[in-house]
Amino acid sequence: MQLLEDVESWRAWCDEQRARGRTIGLVPTMGALHEGHVSLFRAAKRNGDLVVATLFVNPRQFHDQRDLAAYPCTRGTDRVAAERHGVDCLVEPTLAQMWPDYPAPTATTVSVGALGDSFEGLGRPGHFNGVASIVAKLFVVTGPCRAYFGEKDFQQLAVVRQMARDLSFRVDFVACPIVRDADGLALSSRNAQLSGDARRRALVLSRALVEVREHPDTASGHRRRLAAALGTDVDVAYADVVNPISLRPLHDDDEGPGRALVAAMVDGVRLIDNGTVELVKEER
Ligand code: PAF
Repeated sequence: MQLLEDVESWRAWCDEQRARGRTIGLVPTMGALHEGHVSLFRAAKRNGDLVVATLFVNPRQFHDQRDLAAYPCTRGTDRVAAERHGVDCLVEPTLAQMWPDYPAPTATTVSVGALGDSFEGLGRPGHFNGVASIVAKLFVVTGPCRAYFGEKDFQQLAVVRQMARDLSFRVDFVACPIVRDADGLALSSRNAQLSGDARRRALVLSRALVEVREHPDTASGHRRRLAAALGTDVDVAYADVVNPISLRPLHDDDEGPGRALVAAMVDGVRLIDNGTVELVKEER
């Protein structure tokens, strides 16, 4: 596995591979790799791409500096995991390389407007601008044929897709299904912060999503069912049923498919999850 940190070597390596006719699959990460990331590496390998993974904790997508400081750093084990799971080139760019002016704001920011303002964007102003800006930079330097993102961060996926459409990036997106523990909890680097009891209570999120997936209903029917299934044991931030591309909340006369999005605080840990729902259209 090639290990690079310098932007020009990274760009040159990718240019050379493309010149040889090889396709590049990009897996952007912030490290603290778990099975969810591994599923992205595997998908990229299966598609026959050369796998380039980036490991960069992007400060511009953190609203709260305490969150940034607390972000887990597991460089050594991340490198081992990347190599073991087929990454051909792991890029660990420095902050100075990626954002030479940081902490001063950049003059140019990629913003996807309203798509980034709702749900996860509500309590974290600027978060999705930070994500869209860094992913655009990763695309520019890597020149990938395909980019691999997990459906766990469903809004992030919608945001980066919109960004690529609007800026005419020639990148195919591969959305990989959420990886779950045997009991249904969606894998997240935050799960490590859950105590035994909090982890048990956190299961209400995935169970609520199963509940709505198994009962086709109108949008408002799904919302009621979600709210009932989530209950009061966790502090729900949002639970909604949206169009999977625009993330616009669905109405009862909308056609499917829909996506249920949920977020909750469980013992001070913010968890998100999502899943498909089948919509039954209410005739007017
Ligand atoms: O999902 C993440 O780890 C990050 O938001 C990403 C896509 C690597 C951008 O920093």
